[in-house]
Amino acid sequence: MAKGLLDIESLARTEIEAILKRSKELQPRPNESYKRLDVLRGRTVVNLFFEASTRTRTSFEIAAKRLGADTLSITAAGSSVSKGESLVDTLNTLAAMRPDAIVMRHGASGAPHFLSRYLPIPIVNAGDGTHEHPTQALLDALTILDRRPSLEGLRVAIIGDIAHSRVARSNMYLLSKFGARVVLCGPASLLPREMALLAPGIELTSDMEKAIRGADVIMMLRVQLERQHDAAFPASEYFQFFGLRPEHMDLAGPNVIVMHPGPINRGREISSEVADSQRSAILNQVGNGIVVRMAVLERVLTQ
Ligand code: NCD
Repeated sequence: MAKGLLDIESLARTEIEAILKRSKELQPRPNESYKRLDVLRGRTVVNLFFEASTRTRTSFEIAAKRLGADTLSITAAGSSVSKGESLVDTLNTLAAMRPDAIVMRHGASGAPHFLSRYLPIPIVNAGDGTHEHPTQALLDALTILDRRPSLEGLRVAIIGDIAHSRVARSNMYLLSKFGARVVLCGPASLLPREMALLAPGIELTSDMEKAIRGADVIMMLRVQLERQHDAAFPASEYFQFFGLRPEHMDLAGPNVIVMHPGPINRGREISSEVADSQRSAILNQVGNGIVVRMAVLERVLTQ
């Protein structure tokens, strides 16, 4: 099996530290552009996206190009997947073209793990179903570390549709490896009890104020309507109980960092006042996505 990046759960703390250290070195100074390196010249990275994406796909593409690699993006709608080709056949076809790495987003949890057992090409998971989104957790950690010296002891509230969130799972694994205290908060129907068993030090609550009180970091999540097939979703009630609004800011720590992986739905999970405030690190997360993905691709393809 070629070594790619499939999840945070199986990554050692030292590996995470190495990726974050390299990402920091790659961060541009204010008003500078992202560094252009030639380490992947002559290599080809295929971006294979079976689910919608703006940030993740473009930032993987920019990252690969900044490292000098050739890139190619394939989205499910415009590929033979829409003609009924199976996942294994699509991947075998691509593998026959000998790319050096495949970046993959798929709606089925475990899809990249499954394929990495068959293909001799490193696979980087860009989000698999409700399971993991490892580069998101890495860029979130980097964003926190831009504003705090360490993750140790921080209180991080992750709020929203926990049940369907790969962002919550990857962050939970990463943060608990570094000694942060994670509070998962959402309506009971979107907050599976077993989440508390996935990593040490996880607290669950459906009380938004309890989750936010004293928080150093608040991570808001989008409600994953595309993964909920049962009932109509009560959007305005949701915002009333679980939407992040200016009055919540006084409950949190004085320099609380507000984060959201995007895409944000203003007025559904977060108010515009908070999303656009000084405390919001949402656009810093987007910028850090590029350097983290550069560090990951460099590591995957040169080690
Ligand atoms: C997240 C995802 O796709 O899991 N978005 C992202 O990668 N920036 C979260 C989401 O879609 O809500």
